[in-house]
Amino acid sequence: MPILHLLLLTLCLAYHRSPCTYSTRRQFQFEHCYVPNLNPNLKLSDASFVMSHNSATGYLNARRSGNNKENNISYVSPGTKTAMTNRVLSLYGKTQVGSAYNQLNNGARALDLRPKIYANNSIGFHHGDLIDVPLASIDLDSLIQHVKQWCRDNPQELVLIFHSELVHELGYSYLSSAVETEDGGSMYYGIDAMRQVYDTGDVPYYSCEELSNLTVAEAMDMSDLSRFGGVGYLLAVDRHDICESLSYLIFYHTCTLYPNQLGYCTYTDASFCGKANWLQDRLVTCYSTENYNQQSNTFIQCTDLKKYGQYKLTLLKSYTKASANNEPSDNAYELGPPSNTYWYPFNQIQAFWQVDTPSVQLGIMHGSLLLDNNRISRVSEEMVRMVYNQEFDLVSLLAIDNVALTGLALFSVLRNACGQSTVDTDEEVPPCGRELSMPRMSSSRTLPIFWHITLCIVYGTMLALVIAMMVYRLFD
Ligand SMILES: *[C@@H]1O[C@H](CO)[C@@H](O)[C@H](O)[C@H]1NC(C)=O
Ligand SMILES: *[C@@H]1O[C@H](CO)[C@@H](O)[C@H](O)[C@H]1NC(C)=O
Ligand SMILES: *[C@@H]1O[C@H](CO)[C@@H](O)[C@H](O)[C@H]1NC(C)=O
Repeated sequence: MPILHLLLLTLCLAYHRSPCTYSTRRQFQFEHCYVPNLNPNLKLSDASFVMSHNSATGYLNARRSGNNKENNISYVSPGTKTAMTNRVLSLYGKTQVGSAYNQLNNGARALDLRPKIYANNSIGFHHGDLIDVPLASIDLDSLIQHVKQWCRDNPQELVLIFHSELVHELGYSYLSSAVETEDGGSMYYGIDAMRQVYDTGDVPYYSCEELSNLTVAEAMDMSDLSRFGGVGYLLAVDRHDICESLSYLIFYHTCTLYPNQLGYCTYTDASFCGKANWLQDRLVTCYSTENYNQQSNTFIQCTDLKKYGQYKLTLLKSYTKASANNEPSDNAYELGPPSNTYWYPFNQIQAFWQVDTPSVQLGIMHGSLLLDNNRISRVSEEMVRMVYNQEFDLVSLLAIDNVALTGLALFSVLRNACGQSTVDTDEEVPPCGRELSMPRMSSSRTLPIFWHITLCIVYGTMLALVIAMMVYRLFD
């Protein structure tokens, strides 16, 4: 009998989770979670990346958000209870679940960061007026370490960090003073503060124009961490700019400092290197009151799948398609890819429910969470289908909320789209695009513990029985 116990124990111990689990594996289109490498000859602006929308909010309320035990990047949960209003607002400011490491593990290859510099020079993150991510939860230094850890664990993958909407705790004027750099040039104070953190973290930090006209191979060369004794490919990028304004506004996603449009340049610094495709008068929110089928002021929500959900999803789909497929234009007030790819090395497709003041009010009145809205309305699953069915002419940055849901499936269809990956001429050309089957997606990402135990007992008992029978026959 002791032998039997021992056997059972070994079997149970051997039954453990590997990184390519049952629940993650199904989102990949090749066996064993395989994905080919990015084609080094591709133009960087033509390479497709899953971007996690406002990545740092993944660290908000980490205790409640689940799905963060997979990797030992532990959270420091905010020690103090935040005020009720902050709690409520954070429901609407939180767009991700889990650390930057987890988000990359879940398929993201581009992180969208909104830095905030504090009076004591610590750098944290914010989501407009919605919420500040507490410094106790995450700061820029620790986030960089989490990302570098992932790059060490995945040394073939290129990871991009994008900044936008840099703000300062004490107000705008603190960002705008010029600082002299070592090479005799000058840099804005806010940009310099971030540069110091990246220098310490041994991660290259570039301005947008340095990424213009590059191939993937050139970008990987510039982001190669081995130059600093690290492993993997990582770079951070923003416009290194400053805009003529004294305040930043809630929900304002882009500083549109285009040479011809200086007059429009307001609000924020360290602006985004891509065409943002954020159009205030065309935003598709989950909650709204609209004229729907001539009924005035119908209350409409994206999660109401039976009634208005499809209508909402159709609006969002056409918004995303316009962002990718319209005629190229550098006008920030028109959706579509940029025509000046030197000024805009990237193009963003915002594939998530936008928030504006009425939608937040309505959402909070209905006790809803932005993350739930995304899950229930299946917006990310729809994006996987759209990419798979080649509904976008070109995907550069596909930004989604809660990358933990279907980010891997999205990553798989983007990377396996024809032309995106390396074609090794010596070997058989692997299938791509629609030659592969659609990934399967499921909202539940972990096998419940109950099934782990049940499976272990069932398999254990079966094996034990077989062995017992053999032993029995041997001594019979
Ligand atoms: C995670 O890492 C920390 C320190 O790196 C360690 O103290 C802790 O025990 C680890 N936790 C698990 C669950 O492995
Ligand atoms: C810097 O200031 C912030 C906000 O006041 C505070 O949370 C943080 O602990 C401070 N950091 C240090 C290193 O003093
Ligand atoms: C970028 O590349 C295009 C064509 O590949 C070329 O016409 C243009 O001059 C280049 N721009 C810069 C700034 O190198």
